[in-house]
Amino acid sequence: MLLRRVTLHQLKIFISLARCLNMTRAAEELHMTPAALSIQIKQLSGTIGAPLHEQIGKRLFLTDTGRLVYAAALDVFDRMERLSADLAADQGLERGTLKLSIITTAQYFAPRFLGAFCKQHPGIEATLEVANRDQLIERLKQNLDDLYIMGQAPEHMSVIAQPFMENPLVLVAPADHPLAALGDIEPEQLAGESFIMREPGSGTRLAAERFFEKHGVRLKIRMTLGSNEAVKQAVAGGLGLAVLSQHTLTLDQASGAFAVLDVRGFPLLRQWYVIYPSAKQISPVTRGFLNYITAEGASRNQVA
Ligand code: PGA
Repeated sequence: MLLRRVTLHQLKIFISLARCLNMTRAAEELHMTPAALSIQIKQLSGTIGAPLHEQIGKRLFLTDTGRLVYAAALDVFDRMERLSADLAADQGLERGTLKLSIITTAQYFAPRFLGAFCKQHPGIEATLEVANRDQLIERLKQNLDDLYIMGQAPEHMSVIAQPFMENPLVLVAPADHPLAALGDIEPEQLAGESFIMREPGSGTRLAAERFFEKHGVRLKIRMTLGSNEAVKQAVAGGLGLAVLSQHTLTLDQASGAFAVLDVRGFPLLRQWYVIYPSAKQISPVTRGFLNYITAEGASRNQVA
């Protein structure tokens, strides 16, 4: 077996295939055609001397050999990352890469933080993935990124979770809703109202459910929607009330489409966390960004 014929390109393609377990999706992720992907996988499997995957019905599975190759490929890329970090260490913050994965609700502020940081350090090459909680936890398990931003640390995983900014959740209503004119609303007064909720598993939804459960209010859920933007549109369209992160409103609160209700107990105070595996080797660039968002988050807390 001539392993030295295996190329990094083939291993990278195989990692995507092993992660997606779907030729078309892996090809999309890599911006290549399924046919080109299939040729590379065939060549890799030819060099290894055994099939790496099998198709049973519509599903694709890794063979035992495939699983061994997948684990080795992840190791190879992890080592390359560390090499790149070690090389960058000589050059401090002026060169290097930063891979950031954020939960959807963080897209209202994290790209601006990242943009400002990259402007200060133009030699840094940054990538940003926006994903839901399950996808983010999967990426964290596979050690795909340097840092993750989410509203609650994953349980049962050995991670460092550093809070860096407050995440106030507010109760929004259409601007012409009768409750918008009232002050000091009791949670119990919301019992008859229709609510638009985020999907199960969303941190925002969980916090809202806990609050109303604590106050013995049974929520009348009119609709469950998988994105903050969709929830906002439904509220603006008069379909009900919603609990949303204040960060999702920054750009359109001035539009006059929403009112933030003055409900006792609100805003619910959550935190944004920046997270990484406890065993992770932190590069100087990652450390620089961690310091940057901690300072930036603290200054925004003071303003709020
Ligand atoms: P989301 O927000 O899960 O509701 O998108 C992040 C969080 O608050 O955990």
